[in-house]
Amino acid sequence: MEAPVRSRDPHVPQPYRVAAVRRELADVVTLEIEPLSGPRPGFVPGQFNMLYAFGVGEAAISISDETSGAAGFVHTVRTVGAVSEALAGLRAGASLGLRGPFGTGWPVASAEGSDVVIVAGGLGLAPLRPAIEALLARREHYGKLVILVGCRSPDAILYRAQLEHWRQRLDIDIEVTVDHAGTDWHGNVGVVPSLVRRAAFDADDAIALVCGPEVMMRFTASALQEAGLPADKVFLSMERNMKCAVGLCGHCQFGPTFVCKDGPVMRLDRIAPVLVVREI
Ligand SMILES: Cc1cc2nc3c(=O)[nH]c(=O)nc-3n(C[C@H](O)[C@H](O)[C@H](O)COP(=O)(O)OP(=O)(O)OC[C@H]3O[C@@H](n4cnc5c(N)ncnc54)[C@H](O)[C@@H]3O)c2cc1C
Ligand code: FES
Repeated sequence: MEAPVRSRDPHVPQPYRVAAVRRELADVVTLEIEPLSGPRPGFVPGQFNMLYAFGVGEAAISISDETSGAAGFVHTVRTVGAVSEALAGLRAGASLGLRGPFGTGWPVASAEGSDVVIVAGGLGLAPLRPAIEALLARREHYGKLVILVGCRSPDAILYRAQLEHWRQRLDIDIEVTVDHAGTDWHGNVGVVPSLVRRAAFDADDAIALVCGPEVMMRFTASALQEAGLPADKVFLSMERNMKCAVGLCGHCQFGPTFVCKDGPVMRLDRIAPVLVVREI
């Protein structure tokens, strides 16, 4: 995994301002946020911030990009509860707090020379997007780049314009599949592990980066291993409820590990024994 970038003061939220808001899907918005004072801290793809909706609470949200000019962070938020609803309701000019970045990153640098297989389910594309951008920035240093995306339905495809933009490049294999669709959808239908079985990559020299709902990651990890990829070449981004994000409170415990500091990006061979256990 990439060396984590540490927050300057991990306990105290720093004041940020919403520079722009973009609706992605019916229940998903993207926020571009910039620090109210000083430069934003650095980050590596895969890390997350704790975003604080004042008066409501904090939630862990992956860094999905940096703003143009690298002045701020880009975060994509799905409304599931009180904090995400408050964050998704922020308008340009509103203030929020931010602690971070926290956690481990995708192994982008150590994947040099290998094929890279990216598998995203739904909102899982958000923390993978900066990894894809990093790979594309040094495209000539990698082998095949395969991006496999699964969504519930065509109207739930995240970053659709960006996927179409990437698809125009001739040096990436991109496949999108949906669980179900109407007759106006002419793409793949089925779960994303079925795309893994058809993907062309050199399993003897490849690395896989996977993010999505846990059940999707379990089946995807099995499909990658059936395709010949060893478990130490498969990296998953885990989600657990977070409170402190600095390894103190135990809220994010996942078997013997804490997702906030040992993850969220973890190697499959290290978590496989607990990944198969439900409700851990
Ligand atoms: C490392 C990490 C990165 C994350 N990145 C993102 C991100 O980029 N964007 C984002 O929107 N969320 C992300 N999350 C999830 C987010 O932190 C939670 O959804 C958070 O609990 C939302 O707080 P809330 O108060 O709105 O909802 P809560 O009150 O915490 O949850 C409301 C209900 O939704 C359920 N729920 C919680 N999380 C999810 C989920 N991810 N999917 C479906 N149901 C859920 C809960 O079980 C509960 O029933 C991330 C979590 C982690 C640990
Ligand atoms: S969130 Fe407190 S230990 Fe991880």
